[in-house]
Amino acid sequence: MTYLTKLLLALGVVLAFGLAAPEVQAQVNPTERSVNEDALFQALGSNAPITGRVTIPDQAAGALIKPENKAWAVLQGQTLHTLSIWAVVGMVALLAAFYAVRGKIRIDSGPSGRTILRFNAIERFAHWTLASTFIILALSGLNLIIGKTMILPLIGENAFGTLSAWGKIAHNFLAWPFMAALIMIFLLWVIHNVPSKIDLEWIKQGGGLFKKGVHPPARKFNAGQKVIFWAVIIGGAGLSWTGIMLLFPAEAGAPADWQFFQIIHALIAAGLSAIVIAHIYIGSVGMEGAFDAMGSGEVDENWAKEHHSLWVEEVKTSQSRNNAQASTPAE
Ligand code: HEM
Repeated sequence: MTYLTKLLLALGVVLAFGLAAPEVQAQVNPTERSVNEDALFQALGSNAPITGRVTIPDQAAGALIKPENKAWAVLQGQTLHTLSIWAVVGMVALLAAFYAVRGKIRIDSGPSGRTILRFNAIERFAHWTLASTFIILALSGLNLIIGKTMILPLIGENAFGTLSAWGKIAHNFLAWPFMAALIMIFLLWVIHNVPSKIDLEWIKQGGGLFKKGVHPPARKFNAGQKVIFWAVIIGGAGLSWTGIMLLFPAEAGAPADWQFFQIIHALIAAGLSAIVIAHIYIGSVGMEGAFDAMGSGEVDENWAKEHHSLWVEEVKTSQSRNNAQASTPAE
């Protein structure tokens, strides 16, 4: 082979490869600016923002995690965690101490055997819808805050995963019947929960909760129940508003606003749960005869006279008025 032939052959090979692979040369080297995991973890541990590249006009979207997001994660993981546990454990301990000292609050004059209608079917339906949805919402919400550290180690990853997935679905969907029931009990009971002078006397006497035989007068709801009512209404409305913002983050605004709603949501939930635990105690094991009001709807007359004397008088007066009207012959 002559020198010229060799040269032409070499030129042909170079040209053939050069023309066949123009695509490869034009491509971006994919590893040249890929994520460096070390740098990412360092940024995660420090106070620096974690940013990436975006090709959309909103360059702010490139910031994956900002310092304020980290502050929120710490607040969520530590402060809210501790607060939620203490709200529940603290109230249970307080009630256990109260039970140890005072015992079950009995009907002092004993049951009479006669009953009086306290809550009709609509009122009980609204109450139990509110109560059952609230309890599931509270437990599934608490799982989001303390589940990973307290429940996961107890039941393992698989069970915890299933529980949390169902909990999330329940939380998102039961919020709606909770809100409907909240509106119902507001409409049904607001008229009985307007503060009045009688409440001051009830508060002065500690509602008779701490001393046997003490029974301050009360209408349908005493001052303590009015506090529960307004806590449930105001707290429930706050939970509903912040909850809707969490369900529809686009409405909530910036991620920082979303985190603000999450903190308020968790704080109200912790406070209201503690109040509701006290309510459940007094409405069940804490007071003889109380549960019947929401069970059958009928309470013992002596229970009613001891705890809601003015309400009993009102009911009796209106009953005798109705009886008198019924027995008056039509003209
Ligand atoms: C197993 C749980 C519960 C039991 C045993 C229970 C029991 C009762 C009872 C017996 C009453 C009537 C008291 C009376 O005759 O004056 C009542 C009223 C009421 N309940 Fe419940 N309840 C429970 C859960 C809840 C929950 C979770 C909420 C709210 C989230 C709630 C909200 C209310 C409100 C606002 C009232 C009227 C105000 C008051 O009596 O304090 N209840 N409940």
